[in-house]
Amino acid sequence: MKKVYLDNAATTQVAKEVVEVMQPYFLEKYGNASCLHSWGQEARDAVEQSRKVIAEKINAEPEEIIFTGGGSESNNLAIKGTAFQLKDKGNHIITSEFEHPAVLNICKALGKKGFEVTYVAIDKNGFVNLEQLKNSITNKTVLVSIMHANNEIGTIQNINEIGNICKENNIVFHTDAVQSFAKVPIDVKKENITLASFSAHKLHGPKGIGALYIKKATKLKKQIDGGHQEFNQRSGTENVPGIIGFAKAVEVITEKNIENITEFRNYLINELLKIKGTALNGSQDNRLCNNVSISFKNVEGESILLSLDDKGVAVTTSSACTSSKLESSHVLKAIGLKSEDAHGTIRFTLSKYTTKEELDYTIESVRGIIKKLRGISPLK
Ligand SMILES: Cc1ncc(COP(=O)(O)O)c(C=O)c1O
Repeated sequence: MKKVYLDNAATTQVAKEVVEVMQPYFLEKYGNASCLHSWGQEARDAVEQSRKVIAEKINAEPEEIIFTGGGSESNNLAIKGTAFQLKDKGNHIITSEFEHPAVLNICKALGKKGFEVTYVAIDKNGFVNLEQLKNSITNKTVLVSIMHANNEIGTIQNINEIGNICKENNIVFHTDAVQSFAKVPIDVKKENITLASFSAHKLHGPKGIGALYIKKATKLKKQIDGGHQEFNQRSGTENVPGIIGFAKAVEVITEKNIENITEFRNYLINELLKIKGTALNGSQDNRLCNNVSISFKNVEGESILLSLDDKGVAVTTSSACTSSKLESSHVLKAIGLKSEDAHGTIRFTLSKYTTKEELDYTIESVRGIIKKLRGISPLK
């Protein structure tokens, strides 16, 4: 059976070049980067070289990057680390309604620990209401956490404006850039970002490795106690192969890749919108190069997903972390979709390995499935 993987926002195939550079660090160069002998120093050099690669990609200094166990851990360190570090200054945090659970659940947990959280609304295209954001700031606000690009609908936020608002008000600005990193340019200096979270497995790197950008002189309350690794911000022996793989994954993504993915994304959107009773979710212009979120009227998303899976095509109904629940997605609710439209929504996410032939097979399959499901649906 043909196999088409269109769930690249959930995770990606690890690039061959990435596996190749990682392998020696499992089999031969397996030293602990904190050790003084030559094995250790060999690992240390590779880690520092990788740190430079990540830093350069976002116009940061290498010592402003620390490696973590992924996007969720980076978000925890950024948000809890700031909240607990600055709790004597204030206990108010601002975030948005449509963050990933890896931010929302942290904020919920902080809410139970005496912090106040404001959830700023977003508009129908997925943009944060900047007026509401400004009006929510009080003298107790210590942190604004707004994601760079949304994992479900692909909208890319105007983080430049949010960064400016935070700078004017002397507030820490954290952005979850897990979906946007290496797809959308990020300049932490120009955009006044204080903290930014990244994850390798969304960009053809390995799972379980991520990074946090921490602007110079920003203090965070440590979340993992132990040794003094990562400038004493994150204890634990460095995942050397993971770190090296992460940097390689960033190095091998080219502008041409992004251009091609964007072209294929537009093709898929245009073809799917030719099916009657369909609508695109998220911004048309400020959209992740690989995201296609489509609502199909009068059909259940789960049925579309399972029928596509029968044909070897992998898609998702909402984010991977919430797709086992039958509740409609908080993101689709936040952009004002009716519950029945939210339930008929499918996310297709492409990668640099996606081919035109795979898209044509998917489009043909979707057409047939929608026709069949609508034929038997009691909803008309
Ligand atoms: C926007 C966003 N933030 C954070 C995460 C969590 O990253 P990780 O899987 O590396 O913990 C994800 C993963 O789906 C995501 O899409």
